[in-house]
Amino acid sequence: MKSDPKEQKGWSQLWLKYDRKRDNGNGNYFERAAVQGFDCEDRVVRSALKELSHGVRGMLGRTVEIIALKEPDGFGKSGERVEPSASSDASLLIKKAEGTERGIRPEGYAIREEKGRLTLEAADEKGLLYAVFHLLRLIAMERGLAGTDILCCPDNPLRMYDHWDNMDGSIERGYSGRSFFFESDQVIVDERTRDYARLVSSVGINAVVINNVNVKQAATWLITDRYFEKAAQMAEIFADYGIRFFLSLNYAACMELGGLSSADPLDPEVIAWWQGKMKECFEKIPNLGGFLVKADSEGRPGPFTYGRTQADGANMLADAVRPYGGIIIWRCFVYNCTQDWRDRKTDRARAGYDNFIGMDGDYHENVILQIKNGPMDFQIREPVSPLLGGLSKTNQMLEVQIAQEYTGHQIDVCYLIPMFKEVLDFHTYCRPEADTVADVISGRVMGNQNAGIAAVCNTGNDENWTGSDLAAANLYGFGRLAFQTSLSAEEILEEWIPQQFSADREVIDTIKKILLTSRETYEKYTSPLGIGWMVTPHEHYGCSVDGYEYSRWGTYHRADHLGIGVDRSDQGTGYALQYHEPNASMYNSMETCPEELLLFFHHVPYNYILRTGKTLIQHIYDSHFEGVEEAEASAAAWDTLEGKVEEKTFRLVQERFQRQLYNAREWRDQVNSYFYRKSGIPDEKGRDIY
Ligand code: GCU
Repeated sequence: MKSDPKEQKGWSQLWLKYDRKRDNGNGNYFERAAVQGFDCEDRVVRSALKELSHGVRGMLGRTVEIIALKEPDGFGKSGERVEPSASSDASLLIKKAEGTERGIRPEGYAIREEKGRLTLEAADEKGLLYAVFHLLRLIAMERGLAGTDILCCPDNPLRMYDHWDNMDGSIERGYSGRSFFFESDQVIVDERTRDYARLVSSVGINAVVINNVNVKQAATWLITDRYFEKAAQMAEIFADYGIRFFLSLNYAACMELGGLSSADPLDPEVIAWWQGKMKECFEKIPNLGGFLVKADSEGRPGPFTYGRTQADGANMLADAVRPYGGIIIWRCFVYNCTQDWRDRKTDRARAGYDNFIGMDGDYHENVILQIKNGPMDFQIREPVSPLLGGLSKTNQMLEVQIAQEYTGHQIDVCYLIPMFKEVLDFHTYCRPEADTVADVISGRVMGNQNAGIAAVCNTGNDENWTGSDLAAANLYGFGRLAFQTSLSAEEILEEWIPQQFSADREVIDTIKKILLTSRETYEKYTSPLGIGWMVTPHEHYGCSVDGYEYSRWGTYHRADHLGIGVDRSDQGTGYALQYHEPNASMYNSMETCPEELLLFFHHVPYNYILRTGKTLIQHIYDSHFEGVEEAEASAAAWDTLEGKVEEKTFRLVQERFQRQLYNAREWRDQVNSYFYRKSGIPDEKGRDIY
């Protein structure tokens, strides 16, 4: 009997488990595969072909015979010319696309079936790898391959996972165990590194940052001989799967490692130190793509200390990596984190825009500004950051978070792809057409490849990688969405569920329903109408309505006995005016502001009548009761899957649902009691409010 790879390895293969599938005639295409135009010894091609054999063997029980038809120069291995006709008896033809006449762009591919023969055509090696994973996905979904005609090219040049792993093995905002990249200040390179690379490349990820943006202690030394060897080994494994390797950088490394007295980006000594250091880094780690930098943010050092701009800092580093084709991804999460809560003029939401817009156009070509989706910090609902599309002469990258820091710690279910789609579809009005966030971050607006999308990753060394098996939907879904922005949140689930759970219709529909409603359910029982932040400080799980209200972090809801919300209109902090028209006017007025964001933009009396005809206070009560009911319904739906999904998974998710329900009820009761006691207005329906 075939042994279960999960048992051998101690960790799950998630959506690459390749268990036996219904054949639907698919097996016939894998009699004989011929490779034309690709060098079978190329590292990425080798990974692709290995995966093809592995997947087909697992799912269809077939052994694929693979023949290399030609070397890229048109000659066989021993120098003899191989006739193209030699490919004619192959049931699967894998070939390099000639030019771009079929519309196959870099990293793109086509899969076609004609007269019993399957052709995979790719622009390059990465395209081939993605094509193979796509094909395996179709088999896992138990789709018959006859008549297949697919053309896929990535929508975003950079598709990235940012890990917030620390070198002691802990993970900042990690909810799935410890790091599988680091332990006890050592870099770990083992079989799991390869499985990680396989998993993320299978959904199109082509860049990974392995360490936390808060670079301290040992992590500062990642760019030294102490770690080069191991880092390079990991980077090599990533290279086998077309993934570029990135590190987060300590902006003050020139002082901490180099012993300089300053990190002033215009100081010639500082510049020289970084130039030397970058030369060393790129020599020692050949697959290095560049660096991610969190500067002048939450206590991290940066150019502001020296009276310099963010552009001065980013450009200095960018110039140092340019000779090696490197890029600097510079984060825009810069705000005053020592605000006095009585100060009503300072508005954290404004900070990103205020700190970066003035230097639009000053950033060098290999700098990308990485911008969080919202102006605050990954809340369950925020408006889109006005910097996205506000900047018009600067490379931009979107940063989202699949680590469920504020969205339930991978205990509560929260499928985030619908939220990311809203962000991508948002019209910034930065130009007359093609003005959505998706347009901006695809590089189409700036016309270059230094653009894309990154997610703070949700993995750890738990057996199932993501704490809850359901949280893997975000790990899978983010990659797929980054590759193909037009996919819907539902289509992504239609692919993922059969691969990871089962192709049984009932299983698919049940899990789909749980996930597609989960974001709104979570929103309903937590903080209302875009206000956010009513979480337990620091930990960010569980309710604490006033936990952040009198702190220094700039995250206030301003509730009093008459109303709640932050006035960010022209009468308040003026944040609404940071958007292009007509968004600015839309947000500025209480009448036109989308209601789900009402309290983000306006301070609203409890008796204000919403478009539903309900008062604001009644909406708060109702949504909290509804949120708990919906969570209960999802938990009950999961219970129906007993015996239909693996027992271990079933139990684990069931247990998480119990914790979610406890959490949801706590939120409901605390929020409702708080507002009842503030406002003195009772629930119209007379339900229990304490
Ligand atoms: C949040 C998060 C921090 C993180 C920071 C960042 O504030 O709580 O842990 O370091 O975001 O994005 O840099």
